[in-house]
Amino acid sequence: MHIVRTLPELRARLAPHRCPAFVPTMGNLHEGHLALVRQARPLGDATVASIFVNRLQFLPHEDFDTYPRTWESDCRKLEAAGCDVLFAPDEATLYPEPQTCKVHPDGALADILEGHFRPGFFVGVCTVVMKLFACVQPGVAVFGKKDYQQLMVIRHMARQMALPIDIVGGETQRADDGLALSSRNGYLSPAERAEAVQLSKALQAMADAVRVGDRDLSAIEARAARALTQRGWQPDYLVLRRRADLQPPVGGAPLGPLVALAAARLGATRLIDNLEIDV
Ligand code: PAF
Repeated sequence: MHIVRTLPELRARLAPHRCPAFVPTMGNLHEGHLALVRQARPLGDATVASIFVNRLQFLPHEDFDTYPRTWESDCRKLEAAGCDVLFAPDEATLYPEPQTCKVHPDGALADILEGHFRPGFFVGVCTVVMKLFACVQPGVAVFGKKDYQQLMVIRHMARQMALPIDIVGGETQRADDGLALSSRNGYLSPAERAEAVQLSKALQAMADAVRVGDRDLSAIEARAARALTQRGWQPDYLVLRRRADLQPPVGGAPLGPLVALAAARLGATRLIDNLEIDV
Protein backbone atom coordinates (compact mmCIF):
# COMPACT_ATOMS: atom_id res chain seq x y z
CA MET A 1 0.00 0.00 0.00
CA HIS A 2 1.31 3.43 -0.95
CA ILE A 3 0.83 6.17 1.59
CA VAL A 4 0.59 9.62 0.03
CA ARG A 5 0.20 12.90 1.85
CA THR A 6 0.16 15.57 -0.83
CA LEU A 7 -1.94 16.26 -3.89
CA PRO A 8 0.93 16.05 -6.43
CA GLU A 9 1.95 12.65 -4.97
CA LEU A 10 -1.65 11.45 -5.13
CA ARG A 11 -2.12 12.64 -8.73
CA ALA A 12 1.13 10.96 -9.80
CA ARG A 13 0.24 7.70 -8.05
CA LEU A 14 -3.26 7.58 -9.57
CA ALA A 15 -2.29 8.82 -13.06
CA PRO A 16 -2.33 5.32 -14.62
CA HIS A 17 -5.80 4.55 -13.22
CA ARG A 18 -9.03 5.45 -14.98
CA CYS A 19 -11.48 4.35 -12.30
CA PRO A 20 -10.23 4.46 -8.71
CA ALA A 21 -12.69 3.09 -6.13
CA PHE A 22 -12.63 5.34 -3.09
CA VAL A 23 -13.46 4.90 0.60
CA PRO A 24 -13.15 8.15 2.59
CA THR A 25 -12.71 7.74 6.35
CA MET A 26 -11.70 9.65 9.45
CA GLY A 27 -9.52 6.76 10.63
CA ASN A 28 -9.88 4.74 13.84
CA LEU A 29 -10.81 1.95 11.49
CA HIS A 30 -12.93 -1.04 12.41
CA GLU A 31 -14.45 -3.94 10.52
CA GLY A 32 -17.18 -1.63 9.15
CA HIS A 33 -14.61 0.46 7.27
CA LEU A 34 -12.65 -2.59 6.14
CA ALA A 35 -15.81 -4.17 4.71
CA LEU A 36 -16.24 -0.98 2.62
CA VAL A 37 -12.65 -1.30 1.36
CA ARG A 38 -13.23 -4.95 0.44
CA GLN A 39 -16.50 -3.98 -1.28
CA ALA A 40 -14.68 -1.22 -3.20
CA ARG A 41 -11.89 -3.48 -4.49
CA PRO A 42 -13.68 -5.12 -7.44
CA LEU A 43 -15.44 -1.86 -8.37
CA GLY A 44 -12.38 0.04 -9.63
CA ASP A 45 -8.89 -0.34 -11.06
CA ALA A 46 -7.24 0.89 -7.83
CA THR A 47 -8.57 0.96 -4.29
CA VAL A 48 -8.02 4.26 -2.51
CA ALA A 49 -8.86 5.11 1.09
CA SER A 50 -8.42 8.44 2.82
CA ILE A 51 -7.87 9.23 6.47
CA PHE A 52 -8.67 12.81 7.40
CA VAL A 53 -10.37 14.00 10.58
CA ASN A 54 -12.40 16.83 9.13
CA ARG A 55 -12.64 19.76 11.52
CA LEU A 56 -15.43 21.32 9.41
CA GLN A 57 -17.97 18.66 10.37
CA PHE A 58 -17.53 18.96 14.15
CA LEU A 59 -19.47 21.45 16.26
CA PRO A 60 -17.37 23.44 18.77
CA HIS A 61 -18.48 21.24 21.72
CA GLU A 62 -17.93 17.97 19.83
CA ASP A 63 -15.00 15.55 19.93
CA PHE A 64 -12.69 16.84 17.17
CA ASP A 65 -9.67 17.12 19.50
CA THR A 66 -10.25 13.79 21.20
CA TYR A 67 -11.41 11.86 18.10
CA PRO A 68 -9.29 8.68 18.25
CA ARG A 69 -6.27 8.81 15.96
CA THR A 70 -4.88 5.30 15.50
CA TRP A 71 -2.51 5.72 12.56
CA GLU A 72 -0.31 2.61 12.86
CA SER A 73 -3.12 0.12 13.29
CA ASP A 74 -5.22 1.87 10.60
CA CYS A 75 -2.38 1.42 8.10
CA ARG A 76 -1.97 -2.27 8.97
CA LYS A 77 -5.71 -2.89 8.63
CA LEU A 78 -6.05 -1.05 5.32
CA GLU A 79 -3.12 -2.91 3.84
CA ALA A 80 -4.56 -6.27 4.94
CA ALA A 81 -7.97 -5.31 3.46
CA GLY A 82 -6.33 -4.73 0.06
CA CYS A 83 -6.14 -0.94 -0.09
CA ASP A 84 -3.68 0.17 -2.79
CA VAL A 85 -3.32 3.85 -1.96
CA LEU A 86 -3.92 5.64 1.33
CA PHE A 87 -4.35 9.40 1.00
CA ALA A 88 -3.66 10.98 4.38
CA PRO A 89 -3.38 14.75 3.95
CA ASP A 90 -2.77 17.03 6.91
CA GLU A 91 -5.01 20.03 7.50
CA ALA A 92 -2.64 22.44 5.73
CA THR A 93 -2.77 20.26 2.62
CA LEU A 94 -6.53 19.94 2.43
CA TYR A 95 -7.34 23.38 3.82
CA PRO A 96 -4.31 25.55 2.88
CA GLU A 97 -6.47 28.65 3.37
CA PRO A 98 -9.72 29.13 5.28
CA GLN A 99 -12.35 27.05 3.46
CA THR A 100 -14.79 29.86 2.70
CA CYS A 101 -16.25 28.11 -0.34
CA LYS A 102 -18.51 25.40 1.07
CA VAL A 103 -21.03 22.93 -0.29
CA HIS A 104 -24.53 23.48 1.12
CA PRO A 105 -26.59 20.35 0.51
CA ASP A 106 -30.35 20.37 -0.03
CA GLY A 107 -31.96 21.44 3.25
CA ALA A 108 -34.94 19.12 2.85
CA LEU A 109 -32.55 16.21 3.20
CA ALA A 110 -29.69 17.72 5.18
CA ASP A 111 -31.35 20.00 7.75
CA ILE A 112 -33.44 17.23 9.34
CA LEU A 113 -32.44 14.49 11.81
CA GLU A 114 -28.61 14.65 12.08
CA GLY A 115 -28.60 18.07 10.43
CA HIS A 116 -31.15 19.35 12.95
CA PHE A 117 -29.23 18.12 15.98
CA ARG A 118 -25.79 18.90 14.52
CA PRO A 119 -26.29 22.15 12.55
CA GLY A 120 -23.69 22.55 9.81
CA PHE A 121 -22.63 18.91 10.00
CA PHE A 122 -23.59 18.08 6.41
CA VAL A 123 -22.07 21.31 5.08
CA GLY A 124 -18.80 20.11 6.62
CA VAL A 125 -19.24 16.57 5.29
CA CYS A 126 -20.21 17.64 1.76
CA THR A 127 -17.43 20.20 1.57
CA VAL A 128 -14.72 17.72 2.52
CA VAL A 129 -16.19 14.91 0.42
CA MET A 130 -16.38 17.21 -2.62
CA LYS A 131 -12.78 18.22 -2.02
CA LEU A 132 -11.62 14.62 -1.55
CA PHE A 133 -13.49 13.71 -4.74
CA ALA A 134 -11.62 16.51 -6.56
CA CYS A 135 -8.32 15.14 -5.23
CA VAL A 136 -8.91 11.42 -5.87
CA GLN A 137 -11.21 11.72 -8.91
CA PRO A 138 -12.75 8.33 -8.26
CA GLY A 139 -15.15 6.50 -10.57
CA VAL A 140 -16.86 4.91 -7.56
CA ALA A 141 -17.07 5.87 -3.89
CA VAL A 142 -18.35 3.62 -1.11
CA PHE A 143 -20.07 4.98 2.01
CA GLY A 144 -21.48 2.96 4.91
CA LYS A 145 -25.24 2.70 5.41
CA LYS A 146 -24.56 3.10 9.13
CA ASP A 147 -24.51 6.84 8.32
CA TYR A 148 -27.69 6.48 6.31
CA GLN A 149 -28.53 10.16 5.96
CA GLN A 150 -24.92 10.97 5.04
CA LEU A 151 -25.05 8.40 2.24
CA MET A 152 -28.31 9.95 0.93
CA VAL A 153 -27.01 13.52 1.17
CA ILE A 154 -23.83 12.61 -0.73
CA ARG A 155 -25.73 10.64 -3.35
CA HIS A 156 -28.01 13.65 -3.88
CA MET A 157 -25.02 16.01 -4.08
CA ALA A 158 -23.32 13.77 -6.64
CA ARG A 159 -26.48 13.62 -8.75
CA GLN A 160 -27.20 17.36 -8.59
CA MET A 161 -23.60 18.32 -9.35
CA ALA A 162 -23.39 15.74 -12.17
CA LEU A 163 -20.32 14.21 -10.56
CA PRO A 164 -19.17 11.26 -12.67
CA ILE A 165 -18.96 9.06 -9.57
CA ASP A 166 -21.12 6.08 -8.62
CA ILE A 167 -22.06 6.41 -4.96
CA VAL A 168 -22.38 2.92 -3.49
CA GLY A 169 -23.78 2.01 -0.06
CA GLY A 170 -22.16 -0.63 2.15
CA GLU A 171 -24.12 -2.68 4.68
CA THR A 172 -23.71 -1.86 8.36
CA GLN A 173 -21.40 -4.26 10.18
CA ARG A 174 -22.55 -5.31 13.63
CA ALA A 175 -21.01 -6.87 16.73
CA ASP A 176 -22.35 -10.29 17.75
CA ASP A 177 -24.98 -8.70 20.00
CA GLY A 178 -26.22 -6.42 17.19
CA LEU A 179 -24.50 -3.14 18.07
CA ALA A 180 -23.56 -1.29 14.88
CA LEU A 181 -19.78 -0.94 14.63
CA SER A 182 -18.70 2.67 15.09
CA SER A 183 -15.51 4.47 15.99
CA ARG A 184 -17.41 6.11 18.85
CA ASN A 185 -18.20 2.72 20.48
CA GLY A 186 -14.69 2.99 21.88
CA TYR A 187 -15.90 5.79 24.17
CA LEU A 188 -18.31 3.43 25.98
CA SER A 189 -17.52 2.07 29.46
CA PRO A 190 -17.97 -1.72 29.85
CA ALA A 191 -21.41 -1.17 31.42
CA GLU A 192 -22.42 1.24 28.63
CA ARG A 193 -21.12 -1.18 26.01
CA ALA A 194 -23.41 -3.89 27.43
CA GLU A 195 -26.35 -1.45 27.36
CA ALA A 196 -25.56 -0.06 23.88
CA VAL A 197 -27.22 -2.98 22.09
CA GLN A 198 -30.57 -1.57 23.23
CA LEU A 199 -30.40 0.99 20.42
CA SER A 200 -30.51 -1.67 17.70
CA LYS A 201 -33.13 -3.54 19.74
CA ALA A 202 -35.30 -0.40 19.79
CA LEU A 203 -35.02 -0.14 15.99
CA GLN A 204 -35.84 -3.83 15.68
CA ALA A 205 -38.94 -3.38 17.86
CA MET A 206 -40.07 -0.47 15.64
CA ALA A 207 -39.54 -2.58 12.51
CA ASP A 208 -41.39 -5.55 14.04
CA ALA A 209 -44.38 -3.36 14.90
CA VAL A 210 -44.61 -2.06 11.31
CA ARG A 211 -44.16 -5.56 9.88
CA VAL A 212 -47.05 -6.99 11.92
CA GLY A 213 -49.31 -4.24 10.57
CA ASP A 214 -49.22 -1.48 13.17
CA ARG A 215 -49.75 1.77 11.22
CA ASP A 216 -49.72 4.21 14.13
CA LEU A 217 -46.16 5.29 13.39
CA SER A 218 -46.13 8.13 15.93
CA ALA A 219 -47.11 5.72 18.69
CA ILE A 220 -44.40 3.26 17.62
CA GLU A 221 -41.81 6.06 17.69
CA ALA A 222 -42.99 7.31 21.08
CA ARG A 223 -42.89 3.78 22.56
CA ALA A 224 -39.33 3.27 21.36
CA ALA A 225 -38.17 6.63 22.74
CA ARG A 226 -39.91 5.93 26.07
CA ALA A 227 -38.30 2.50 26.37
CA LEU A 228 -34.80 3.92 25.86
CA THR A 229 -35.41 6.93 28.11
CA GLN A 230 -36.54 4.59 30.92
CA ARG A 231 -33.21 2.79 30.60
CA GLY A 232 -31.27 6.06 31.04
CA TRP A 233 -30.72 7.03 27.40
CA GLN A 234 -31.30 10.53 26.05
CA PRO A 235 -32.77 10.05 22.57
CA ASP A 236 -32.42 12.80 19.95
CA TYR A 237 -34.74 10.96 17.58
CA LEU A 238 -36.24 7.54 16.91
CA VAL A 239 -38.29 7.87 13.75
CA LEU A 240 -39.82 5.94 10.88
CA ARG A 241 -39.19 7.67 7.57
CA ARG A 242 -39.66 7.04 3.86
CA ARG A 243 -36.51 5.51 2.47
CA ALA A 244 -36.74 7.65 -0.69
CA ASP A 245 -36.40 11.07 0.98
CA LEU A 246 -36.31 10.57 4.79
CA GLN A 247 -39.62 12.43 5.14
CA PRO A 248 -42.44 11.10 7.35
CA PRO A 249 -44.86 8.87 5.41
CA VAL A 250 -48.09 10.62 4.46
CA GLY A 251 -51.03 9.32 6.53
CA GLY A 252 -53.42 7.14 4.55
CA ALA A 253 -51.00 6.58 1.62
CA PRO A 254 -49.45 3.12 1.09
CA LEU A 255 -46.31 2.95 3.21
CA GLY A 256 -43.63 1.80 0.76
CA PRO A 257 -40.03 1.14 1.82
CA LEU A 258 -39.17 2.68 5.19
CA VAL A 259 -36.12 3.18 7.31
CA ALA A 260 -36.08 3.45 11.09
CA LEU A 261 -33.43 5.93 12.21
CA ALA A 262 -32.16 6.61 15.69
CA ALA A 263 -29.70 8.85 17.49
CA ALA A 264 -29.40 8.75 21.25
CA ARG A 265 -26.91 9.60 23.93
CA LEU A 266 -25.74 6.97 26.40
CA GLY A 267 -23.75 8.75 29.08
CA ALA A 268 -21.43 11.08 27.16
CA THR A 269 -21.52 9.06 23.95
CA ARG A 270 -23.91 9.79 21.10
CA LEU A 271 -24.71 6.71 19.00
CA ILE A 272 -26.64 6.47 15.73
CA ASP A 273 -28.11 3.48 13.95
CA ASN A 274 -30.80 2.60 11.44
CA LEU A 275 -32.73 -0.31 9.98
CA GLU A 276 -34.34 -0.61 6.56
CA ILE A 277 -37.90 -1.94 6.64
CA ASP A 278 -39.55 -3.46 3.57
CA VAL A 279 -43.28 -3.07 3.94
O1 PAF B 1 -18.27 9.06 7.55
C1 PAF B 1 -17.18 9.61 7.79
O2 PAF B 1 -16.25 9.02 8.34
C2 PAF B 1 -16.99 11.07 7.41
O3 PAF B 1 -18.18 11.79 7.55
C3 PAF B 1 -16.42 11.25 5.99
C4 PAF B 1 -17.37 10.75 4.92
C5 PAF B 1 -15.09 10.52 5.87
C6 PAF B 1 -16.17 12.74 5.71
O4 PAF B 1 -15.28 13.29 6.63
